[in-house]
Amino acid sequence: MPRSEKIERCLVCHNIDCAQRGSIPIGEEIARRLRDAGSPVEVRPYMCFGGCPQGPNIVLFPQGTWYAQVQPEDAEAIANHILGGPRADRLAASVDPELRDLILEILDAGILD
Ligand code: FES
Repeated sequence: MPRSEKIERCLVCHNIDCAQRGSIPIGEEIARRLRDAGSPVEVRPYMCFGGCPQGPNIVLFPQGTWYAQVQPEDAEAIANHILGGPRADRLAASVDPELRDLILEILDAGILD
């Protein structure tokens, strides 16, 4: 079944590996850009997506886009995608599709924090 194209939440991994690679300020920068644009999309911390070596990891839900190896300079492209711009495909290329499907099942089950 195809996934919704909607983006209601931007889930940013705050666990150790991703945080050590800078996920928290990246999420803050995305949140700032969304706020400035008047977007209702929430940026929220997430406990761990299980893709720790490929962090920082960010998942857009319910759409299901998973961005990996996100760098501070990628915050603009991710915010632009959330605001209706193009998907930043280069940031989604290294995600294991099986892990992605598993994590999306968990998110679909309502485990969003
Ligand atoms: S620490 Fe971020 S995915 Fe596990």
